Parts: sequence; structure tokens; C-alpha cells
Amino acid sequence: MTEHLFAGRRGGPQVIVAGSEREFAVLAADKVQREIRGRADCVLAVPTGNTPTTMYAELSQRCRDGELSFAEVRTFNLDEFVGLPGDHRASFETYMMQNFFTHIDIDMANVHIPNGHAANLEQACVEFERNIAAVGGFDLAVMGIGANGHIAFNEPGTSFDSRTHVVTLSEGSREAHASAFGGLQRVPLEGVTMGIATLLGARRIVLLAKGADKADIVAHALQGPVTAEVPASALQRHQNVTFILDQPAASQLVGGQ
Ligand code: PGA
Repeated sequence: MTEHLFAGRRGGPQVIVAGSEREFAVLAADKVQREIRGRADCVLAVPTGNTPTTMYAELSQRCRDGELSFAEVRTFNLDEFVGLPGDHRASFETYMMQNFFTHIDIDMANVHIPNGHAANLEQACVEFERNIAAVGGFDLAVMGIGANGHIAFNEPGTSFDSRTHVVTLSEGSREAHASAFGGLQRVPLEGVTMGIATLLGARRIVLLAKGADKADIVAHALQGPVTAEVPASALQRHQNVTFILDQPAASQLVGGQ
């Protein structure tokens, strides 16, 4: 098993570099499993995207093997598109059902996904935050990172004090989803997302990044200045953050391999 640890900033994020795709999935799944072992009814903030699919497959397998149970686990998705029915093929709700929820023993009453088709979106955002607070906040928040540094759908310039809110998606973020929608024109213009303060409220945070196209932004997030222009740099301010990277995503880190 190849695993390299980089010293981040003093007291800042821990960085683990996986030596293989398989190891990436195992390391990420281990983080989730540790939470469930610690507390069967733990509260997880969970991401969508290409990056976490192997983590979900690994967790699903462990659940099938009887190694862990999600029966009491509570989940909150980071974000969702605005204006799609939940069962739209490119919605994050559909992603979660296909990649995770239909493969594990979770109680769907414990699943929370931002409602991007609420009649009153502002009110839905307030209610989402209220639901997070009502369960005592996240034990663990797992997230990816956009090529522009976004975490959840918090695009560059978002206040670190932000809570769940409606956002106008950047062109780049929409392009990243164009193929799933069958063209950029079909990708919604807006999303609903947990805010940066919502994410930073988690007791533990894991950020997952894979691929050379994330190398530059990962280096900025970990080793650059803390700035709203790189939303993921806010994680430097949190006391318990782990970045799990593959080797290409870690390739721009100073002090790396
Ligand atoms: P990806 O998305 O995993 O599909 O690269 C990550 C993100 O935009 O947060």
C-alpha cells in the first residue's frame, strides 16, 4: 500500500495520497466506517460527483458483507440543482439512489437532500439548516472540490459565513455536468447548496480529489492563502480536515513526491 503523508500548514489539513484507485476508495470508505463504528446514528454530509463513486461502491460492498450498517445513519446531501424533479436522470437525488442508497440498508426517512424544486426555495434553505441543527450538526462532512475551488456549489467569492442558499452556477460548474444533461444548454442555471459555514460546522471533514485537472486547485486550497476566491481554502481554518488525494491530484503540492 503506497501512502504518502504531506505536512500541510501547521495544525492544518492532513493529506493522504492514495497509491491506487482501490486504495483511494478504501481510505475514503474507512473514514465513513469509523464514524459509524463510533456512533451508529452518526450524521454525515455526503457529496455527489465522479470522485466519490468508488467510495460509495466500497461502502455498499461492506454493507452487503455485513461489515457495517447504515440503518441508523442520517445523511444530508451537500447540494442539488434548482428546478429539476427529484427523479430527473441528472439530479443529485438520482445519483445518490443509483450509486448508494439503493445498495445499503439506510432508512430513507433519514436521508435529506436539498429541495431544488420547492415552491419557496428560500424557505426550503432555512428548513434544511434547521434540520441539520436539529440533529446536532455533522459528525463528518465528505466533499469533492471543483476545478475552480468550489466546495459543494459554493463558487468563488462565496462568504465563509454562508449557510444553505441558492446560487447561480458558474459556467465551468455547468460545463462539468453538460454530458449528464445532454448539453450545456440543458444544465440548470442555479443550484441550492449548503454554505461554507454549514460545512465548516462539521466536527470532521474529508475532502476527496482525483486527477491531474485538480492538482493546481488542490495546491491552492492547501498551500495558498485563505481567500474567498478559493472556497476550499476555508478548510485551512478547520481543526480536523483530511484531504484524500490520488497521485495526480497531489502532484502540484510543494513538498510532495
Ligand atoms: P467531481 O466533482 O467529483 O465530479 O470532480 C467535484 C465537485 O465539483 O465538487
